[in-house]
Amino acid sequence: MDLESYVRALPKAELHLHIEGSLEPELMFALAQRNHVALPWRSVEATRAAYDFSNLQSFLDLYYAGAAALIHEQDFYDLAMAYFARARADGVVHAELFFDPQTHTARGIAFDTVLDGLERACDEARVQYGISSRLILCFLRHLSEDDGFATLDQAVPHLNRIHGVGLDSSENGHPPSKFARLFGRCRELGLHVVAHAGEEGPPAYIVEALDLLKVERIDHGVRAAEDPALVERLVREQIPLTVCPLSNVKLCVFRTLGEHNLKQLLDAGLKVTINSDDPAYFGGYIGQNFLATAEALKLSRAELKRIARNSLEASFVTEVERAPWLARLDALPEN
Ligand code: ADE
Ligand code: ZN
Repeated sequence: MDLESYVRALPKAELHLHIEGSLEPELMFALAQRNHVALPWRSVEATRAAYDFSNLQSFLDLYYAGAAALIHEQDFYDLAMAYFARARADGVVHAELFFDPQTHTARGIAFDTVLDGLERACDEARVQYGISSRLILCFLRHLSEDDGFATLDQAVPHLNRIHGVGLDSSENGHPPSKFARLFGRCRELGLHVVAHAGEEGPPAYIVEALDLLKVERIDHGVRAAEDPALVERLVREQIPLTVCPLSNVKLCVFRTLGEHNLKQLLDAGLKVTINSDDPAYFGGYIGQNFLATAEALKLSRAELKRIARNSLEASFVTEVERAPWLARLDALPEN
């Protein structure tokens, strides 16, 4: 089996995917036309050409501009169904989707419009593709904790449809400590908790996410490598890291994929997973992230299997749901 087929055959969970970041320019333009929304770009080609980022903020500015095309429940459904079709082709058996309600409610889109469309797609993905999924509400960290509390109030009537919360957007200057009360409340409500930390921000933000937010996974976390005591802790506690290699290169966290520290983290005993983050902006879905990383870092098939296993183990599913995926993974040869 060639490497591409092998990567596709690995049953895997995607744990770090911003659904708004899967908005391909073609769909963005189709929605903008359908909804009579003006975009800052002239064409699909001009949009793609603008995807040349120097850091996280330079990407976020475009990502929030693109999200303006999403207005109706059907738009959120179409967006998520397009993602699920790509995920299925990449061997994803389970996906935990991040969504950013504040990006939409700030534009006057109702919270329920967003959630209804995404949830309908999750239901349809199970029926059509056999993919299981969960929704994780992300708070935008450049906004205030009070704004986060107001968003949580809107989410509370729908907690049967929201599995967890996360923290994303501009990292530097917005440490996890800013959201300690909000995350405490979310935990009291029985929600799973994760947070972006150590993408651009310092290792101290990862420590804060663990100690103050009490997160169960760290999104990105690659800068943990700068703090040996933290690495030791992450290994000891087997805290999963949802690493997004192509994203890290596009946002200049690493100069090239060959310089990415994913293998170093894996070799240290960390529970590393591979994910796509914002695949429409960063040049590849999860399969491409696996493949390009495997080639650049010369990962063995046993290592790829380990990474897929980590994703299944780190997902917020029951043992009953996880067992058949693990059995399929175990049955896959390492050559
Ligand atoms: N929102 C979407 N993608 C993100 C990323 N990589 N980091 C922080 N916030 C994000
Ligand atoms: Zn992310």
